[in-house]
Amino acid sequence: MGKYYITTPIYYPSDNLHIGHAYATVNADALARYHRQIGDDVWFLTGTDEHGQKIQRKAESVGVSPQAYVDGIVANIKDLWKRLQISNDDFIRTTEERHEKAVQMIFEKLYEQGDIYKSEYEGWYCTPCEAFWTARQLNDGNCPDCGRGVELVKEESYFFRASKYADRLIKYIEENPDFIQPVSRKNEMLNNFLKPGLEDLCVSRTTFNWGIKVPFDPKHVVYVWLDALSNYITALGYPACMDAEHPDLFQKYWPADLHLVGKEIVRFHTIIWPIILMALGLPLPKKVFGHGWLVLDGGKMSKSKGNVVDPLVLIDKYGIDAVRYYLLRETPFGSDGSYTEEALILRINTDLANDLGNLLHRTLSMIEKFNEGVVPKPGAYQDLDQQVIKLSQESLAELKSAMDKLEIHGALAAVFKLVSRTNKYIDEAAPWALARNPDLRERLNTVLYTMSETLRLIAVYLVPFLVETPAKIWKQLGLSGSPADLEYSDAVKWGWLKPGTVTKKGEPIFPRIEIEKPKEGPTVEQQPAVQEKIAEKQSSDQITIEEFSKIDLRVAKVIAAEKVEGSDKLLKLQVKVGEEERQIVAGIALHYQASEMVGKEIVIVANLKPAKLRGILSQGMLLAASNTEGQLSLLNPDKIIGEGSKVR
Ligand code: MSP
Repeated sequence: MGKYYITTPIYYPSDNLHIGHAYATVNADALARYHRQIGDDVWFLTGTDEHGQKIQRKAESVGVSPQAYVDGIVANIKDLWKRLQISNDDFIRTTEERHEKAVQMIFEKLYEQGDIYKSEYEGWYCTPCEAFWTARQLNDGNCPDCGRGVELVKEESYFFRASKYADRLIKYIEENPDFIQPVSRKNEMLNNFLKPGLEDLCVSRTTFNWGIKVPFDPKHVVYVWLDALSNYITALGYPACMDAEHPDLFQKYWPADLHLVGKEIVRFHTIIWPIILMALGLPLPKKVFGHGWLVLDGGKMSKSKGNVVDPLVLIDKYGIDAVRYYLLRETPFGSDGSYTEEALILRINTDLANDLGNLLHRTLSMIEKFNEGVVPKPGAYQDLDQQVIKLSQESLAELKSAMDKLEIHGALAAVFKLVSRTNKYIDEAAPWALARNPDLRERLNTVLYTMSETLRLIAVYLVPFLVETPAKIWKQLGLSGSPADLEYSDAVKWGWLKPGTVTKKGEPIFPRIEIEKPKEGPTVEQQPAVQEKIAEKQSSDQITIEEFSKIDLRVAKVIAAEKVEGSDKLLKLQVKVGEEERQIVAGIALHYQASEMVGKEIVIVANLKPAKLRGILSQGMLLAASNTEGQLSLLNPDKIIGEGSKVR
């Protein structure tokens, strides 16, 4: 196994972070956790980009020093990552001495070797993006990245000879097709920025002072992007390691395996950053991946627009794994995704509560009920079991290939395909029916084992994504420790779960969110809109009294019943509905014997179009209740009321 150095961008602590930032960091965290799980030696870095004009202005606007301002916000950011259980190995602040000193050394080196020279800058500057633009690059006079207004800047500056490295960079990008991903971003960089010609880059500012001082000319502060991009190497101890605890980080981990960045800052990471690295004589990162944005009402979230969602509120309301799952699963990684609380609730209810939570609950209930809470020893696997075992291995292969391609959503889809298949397997294998026949004991054991071992594998597969759920499943299965601690190649082997393990059924791991009654208190500024959307969805699921009255429900009396030949599930019933006699074929044979049906009053849908089941005419359908454990109970009138009576 190799080393894996992964980074997030370092965030501006100009405001508290929102769900869009959490999206970026949680996805990086899933990749870091996955690589750790498969045995790579991982270093995962995140941090904060604390200098620059934007932060200085923000601090001034609230009347505190920039340092005091960022200290407050950075504490909140660290707290947010703790709440989301981000597994970073280091957190770099660009105001730390280790970083400031290193940036000064870098600047000095580039100056001494003639790559940085002094001149005057005259051009446009976007303060929110901290980006220089030429008049030609502006979009209707505004910043081409964020669309906001730009300022004319004229000041003495140091320049970096970017133009000198442009051809080498074009060649590098063309020869290394994996360097910039997705490929659309690569083409954009080549065609929009590199091929039209690269101008020298302004790398210092003199009209404000919140930055790292140029050591040999302290009225200049280092341009914030040169300062910020360097974090990826200064955090590893470049150029001179000051961290006695980790003296060889740089040798060990550089070049980065992946810089994960938002699409709007791909340009800084694939043009400016590689050129600086070339000038420093350092290898380039292996991959820069530009992911999309989580947008709200079609626009990028921003505090200034007032359309932000606070991840802490969502975690408090729905739990950390629900929020992580949504952020990882909902949007194909690389594309923009639209955030709605409604979609988050639907994900929780369908995937987590109905599929995964239910699978755990019914598996453990059946082990409790049919085998006194002990995982049984499986007998010979039949074709049906083999299908699930095979899919469990195929899902793993799909998960791995998706993670290699950074298709994080696809990796989770592969796991949840297995979750649904296992639920279907339980319906098909019908352990409750097997349990009624002592001759089928061994078959029942095989089915119960297959259910629990698949569930165990699902817990192992979920380790990179969810931080509480895998351990909860593990515990309920009666296993000690955590699936994250196991040697991966052992953990993913079918048959790891020992027969005889005593399970410990617990509370449902993902209760359904009752959308009828959202909990007290607004969660996001869009709360009324969320409620409206949910109400709309609900009303589309509802029917009117007129629609209901179209269904003719009647009491019917069973006068004869027999099994349908060649089917273990179907019974053929002759029923009386008033004066009329009818035949109904019903899938209840695993739950009711033909003989016990005769004489019962049941409820049927009398005006259902006749249909043929196994070639036998069925004139109606009987009503029965079924629960998540697959048990079934017929509906009967509470008192004898006489066949033909209407049910309403
Ligand atoms: N400080 C620079 C990065 C320097 S890296 C050497 C910066 N900071 S930022 O706070 O504005 O953005 C940090 C990251 O958060 C960017 O990659 C950006 O794309 C990402 N996101 C900000 N809002 C986002 C969404 N709404 N959705 C997804 N990602 C978002 O740029």
